Amino acid sequence: MSKVASREIRLASRPKGIPTAANFSLAQVELEPPQDQQVLVRNLFMSVDPYMRGRMNDGKSYVPPFALGEPLEGGAVGEVINSRANEFKPGDAVTSNFGWREFFIASPKDLHLVSREIQPLSVYLGALGMTGMTAWAGLNLVEVKGGDVIFISGAAGAVGNVAGQLAKLRGCRVIGSAGSMEKVEFLREECGFDIAFDYKTGPILEQLNLEVPDGIDVYFDNVGGETLEAALSVLKVHGRIIACGGISGYNEEKPRPGPSNLFNITTKRLTMKGLIVRDWLDRQGEFEKEAGGYFRAGKLKNKETVVAGIVQAVDAFIGLFAGKNIGKMVVKLV
Ligand SMILES: NC(=O)c1ccc[n+]([C@@H]2O[C@H](COP(=O)([O-])OP(=O)(O)OC[C@H]3O[C@@H](n4cnc5c(N)ncnc54)[C@H](OP(=O)(O)O)[C@@H]3O)[C@@H](O)[C@H]2O)c1
Repeated sequence: MSKVASREIRLASRPKGIPTAANFSLAQVELEPPQDQQVLVRNLFMSVDPYMRGRMNDGKSYVPPFALGEPLEGGAVGEVINSRANEFKPGDAVTSNFGWREFFIASPKDLHLVSREIQPLSVYLGALGMTGMTAWAGLNLVEVKGGDVIFISGAAGAVGNVAGQLAKLRGCRVIGSAGSMEKVEFLREECGFDIAFDYKTGPILEQLNLEVPDGIDVYFDNVGGETLEAALSVLKVHGRIIACGGISGYNEEKPRPGPSNLFNITTKRLTMKGLIVRDWLDRQGEFEKEAGGYFRAGKLKNKETVVAGIVQAVDAFIGLFAGKNIGKMVVKLV
C-alpha cells in the first residue's frame, strides 16, 4: 500500500481571548502504510468542543495543553481503511480522539468500534457520544429523578439539549436557557422542554423568577457567570448543581470574580458537584445501552449543525463561542 496524504489542523499560537484563524494552521502530511498491530483510519466526522479552548492555554488543568506546531486532538468517527490488527477490519466504523485530521494510524487500543447500523455516524459525537454521555453523567451525578424541576443553561447546545431530553424521559419539569428565539423554539418544539427562554433578552434572574416562581431543584450549569448566580438565587433548599461547564468565561483573559451570592450554598444547604465525563468511562457501556435504546426507539433526538470540510473546522470551533450551533457542532470530512 502506498503512502496516504492527510491534511491536519495545528495550533500555530496560543489564543488571547476569542481564538482567531491566525491561531491555527493547515498542514499536509504523508502517512506510511500501517505496520503490524496498526490500523489506518479515514475520519468521516470530527468534533469541535468548547473544552478545547482550555487546552489551547499553557496552563495546568485536568488534561495537558495542546502543543504548539502539533495537530490538535479531539473526538472523531471514522472508517477503517487498512488494518494489520485482528481487532479491526476495513469498513469498520470507529471513534477515536484523533480528530482535526483526515487520516491517521493508531493502535487498536485507541479505537472504539461502533455500529454502522446507526446513522448518521456523527451521532457518536453527539447524543450517543461524549457530549450525550456528559449529559447522562451529569443527571446521574446528582441523582436527578422524576418530579425534579431542572434548569439547564446552554440548553440548545450538544450537552444541554440531550440533558433536557433525558430529564424529560425521567419525568422532570425542564427549563432551558439559550441565546436566540430559534433555539428557544427548538427546545420547546423538538426537545419537549416545558419552558425555554432567550437569556439575551433580559436579566436571567428576572426571567427565572417569572418562569419558575416556586424555584428549581437542580441546575445543570454549562455556562457559569451570570446564569450560575441567577440559579443560586432560585434553587430551593437542598437543591443540587451539576458544575459541567463555564463557557461564558473560557475566553476571559483575567478570571472574573465568582458569583456574589455563593453564601446561598450555606443558607439553602445546596450541593454543587463538579463533573468530568472522563471519570465515567467505566460506565460507557451502560450509557450506550440506555441512550442507544432511546435513540433507536425515537425517544432521543440527535440535533446537529454540520459544517463541511477540514478547511471549515477552525471556523466551526470559533463559532461555538458565538452560538452558531444548534445541537452538536460537527465537521463532515468526507
Ligand atoms: N465537564 C465535562 O466533562 C464536559 C464535557 C463536555 C462539555 N462540557 C461543557 O459543557 C458546556 C457545553 O458544551 P457543548 O459541547 O454542549 O457545547 P455547545 O453548548 O454545543 O456549544 C457552545 C454553546 O455555548 C453557548 N455560549 C457561547 N458563549 C456563551 C456565553 N458567553 N455565555 C453563555 N453561553 C454561551 C452558545 O449557545 P447560546 O447561543 O445559547 O449562547 C454555544 O452554542 C461547555 O461549557 C463545555 O465546556 C463539559
